[in-house]
Amino acid sequence: MRVVIVDDAEAAACRAAQEIAALVRQKPDAVLGLATGGTPVRCYRELIRLHQHDGLDFAAVRSFNLDEYLGLPADHPQSYRRFMQENLFDHLNIPCEQTHVPDGMASDIDAFCQQYEQQIQAAGGIDLQLLGIGSDGHIAFNEPGSSLASRTRLKSLAAETVRDNARFFGSEADVPKLAITMGVGTIMESKQCLLLATGANKATAVREAIEGAVTARVTASALQMHPHTIAVLDAPAAAQLE
Ligand code: F6R
Repeated sequence: MRVVIVDDAEAAACRAAQEIAALVRQKPDAVLGLATGGTPVRCYRELIRLHQHDGLDFAAVRSFNLDEYLGLPADHPQSYRRFMQENLFDHLNIPCEQTHVPDGMASDIDAFCQQYEQQIQAAGGIDLQLLGIGSDGHIAFNEPGSSLASRTRLKSLAAETVRDNARFFGSEADVPKLAITMGVGTIMESKQCLLLATGANKATAVREAIEGAVTARVTASALQMHPHTIAVLDAPAAAQLE
């Protein structure tokens, strides 16, 4: 794993956006794997700037998001589809039908998950998967104990994640306890992974993911086995690395 440490969250976001922009310039119909949450917001802001001011073209790009809360319709204020529209897609020239976010309202979840995997395959696989990391070391919603071979499926959220994400919902009680998520195995098939982590609250998870044992207890540690992963960290997130 290549580890890049920069001063602050803004520099980390710009560095991540540069990686994505370089891929899109080289392969205009690239398949991007995208994440939600607080971490990628600045990176998406920079991609929007590159589109609006430097002509970075997303017309042929395809995208697949990592996850979505079960039971939230696309237009719910906290749905990940809505997050992606507001923080990225609405400001780019990417056609909506080329963007994919798991459907939290799917009636047959297993069938939906299988279909999502097939859609990724049919697109030629994910060229670059952007990832954040949970304070419990998760990637996507692959909470501690998730199989490192797991595929897209329904997953229960760990209590720590519910606590962390309560800031978006107002209270823990309002955070959905189940989500549809790509599996660790799905993520590991991406041609390239880009782990973005910022802030002191991620320092322990980052250390365990990058320097700890490869274990299902810290699903981000699977990235150590990925041949083409870059971790972009700000100084506070990197503070516990040896
Ligand atoms: C979001 C996702 C999650 C987040 C992680 C960190 O699509 O898959 O794994 O990346 O929970 O969230 P933030 O960035 O809010 O700290």
